[in-house]
Amino acid sequence: MTDFRDVLRAARGSGTLDGAHFEAVARGAADQSVPDYQLASWLAAVYARGLSPEETFAFTMALARSGGPLEPSPGAVDKHSTGGVGDKTTLVVAPLVASVGIPVAKMSGRGLAHTGGTLDKLESIPGFRVNLSRDEWAQVVERVGVAVAAQSRELAPADGRLYALRDATATVDSPALIAASIMSKKIAGGARALVLDVKVGRGSFNSSVAEGRRLAQLMLEVASRAGIRAEALLTNMEEPLGQTVGNALEVNEAWATLQGGGPADLRAVVLAVSAAMVAQARGAGGPDAAAAAGREVRAALDGGQARDKFREWVQAQGGDVDQVERGLPLAPAALVTWAGEAGVVSRVDPLLIGRAAMEIGAGRRVAADVVNPRVGVAVLVKTGDRLSPGAPVGRVYAESPSEREQAVRRVREAVKVSAGAAALAPRPPVVWEALSTPH
Ligand code: URA
Repeated sequence: MTDFRDVLRAARGSGTLDGAHFEAVARGAADQSVPDYQLASWLAAVYARGLSPEETFAFTMALARSGGPLEPSPGAVDKHSTGGVGDKTTLVVAPLVASVGIPVAKMSGRGLAHTGGTLDKLESIPGFRVNLSRDEWAQVVERVGVAVAAQSRELAPADGRLYALRDATATVDSPALIAASIMSKKIAGGARALVLDVKVGRGSFNSSVAEGRRLAQLMLEVASRAGIRAEALLTNMEEPLGQTVGNALEVNEAWATLQGGGPADLRAVVLAVSAAMVAQARGAGGPDAAAAAGREVRAALDGGQARDKFREWVQAQGGDVDQVERGLPLAPAALVTWAGEAGVVSRVDPLLIGRAAMEIGAGRRVAADVVNPRVGVAVLVKTGDRLSPGAPVGRVYAESPSEREQAVRRVREAVKVSAGAAALAPRPPVVWEALSTPH
């Protein structure tokens, strides 16, 4: 049996870490034989030293195999986001892609740091079950064409444990740890085609396009070594995606988007990611294939096929879809109005908005916290909008008056209004660029 102190010494040293090293970490995390404090110490060491692409691949494979032998996915394509604020893309994309006949089998995560998690959002739908066995996951995909599950004992369990520890030890924003965490779930799920939504901006774990590109390239390299066809889209996270941050709020917004409405930026990311998934699933590269896939998914979103598929999917995983149609219940709301001078919105800080939502219970401060689905923040303005004094800028949903007041202050801090020409700088694009593994 490995003495984990030797593993820790190696991680703190400067030598190359090999497959056996990462197997010891992944096994110890999955079978609980290594305690939290030793795993946390290992994460801190790796966070500080970084991993080479070879080490990242070896770690990814060790995590992917932590639930047993790898099996092919029941779906044809998968997607994953590196994490952002207000990112409810999966809730729309998964049924949309399934509605054009491409099965989607996805494994998702929970909220991490100030970013929300798809599983928490789905669990705000009464009855929705994310803890599916591998067999159930495959059966739902077979029957409905789409299923989203949490990690389980069979699906990259080591990542599940390390993910929660990274959140608690502020070791989330490491490119190697993010790449291994995401790619291990994709490989364990058996993906053959994949689209990565790499967020860039203050609300993400990549502060610049160059940083996002490096993370995208690292994940594409892991995908390529694992035999997965993949594309990465660098998308904007300089402000929250859509208008809502909080679990039930985001499901309500996703439902509006599935009805053909929803905020323009969310719709644009949904269409870009979905088109890329369709093109990857068909193994079709190039601008013509991408344009054809784009037309197909737009028609399915506007024609209601994606909405119908969402209904089927939610019901198949035990969720009360009629409740979604009626609107999921929310905590009492307070309107936030603009208290400053007239001007143009120059920033809606996604980090502050993400933290504001987390503080009132939409996310977790520590892994054991229980999220409250009813709370969150709606931000009604975008960078570049004109504001006059007293104009509505947001709405906060919280359980107590003191929490509402705190969240109102945070939203006011997050929105910056400027009268100068700087405020009129062009809005960043929703999608910065796309990179892919060779076809
Ligand atoms: N999503 C994941 O699954 N893991 C990360 O580390 C970040 C985002």
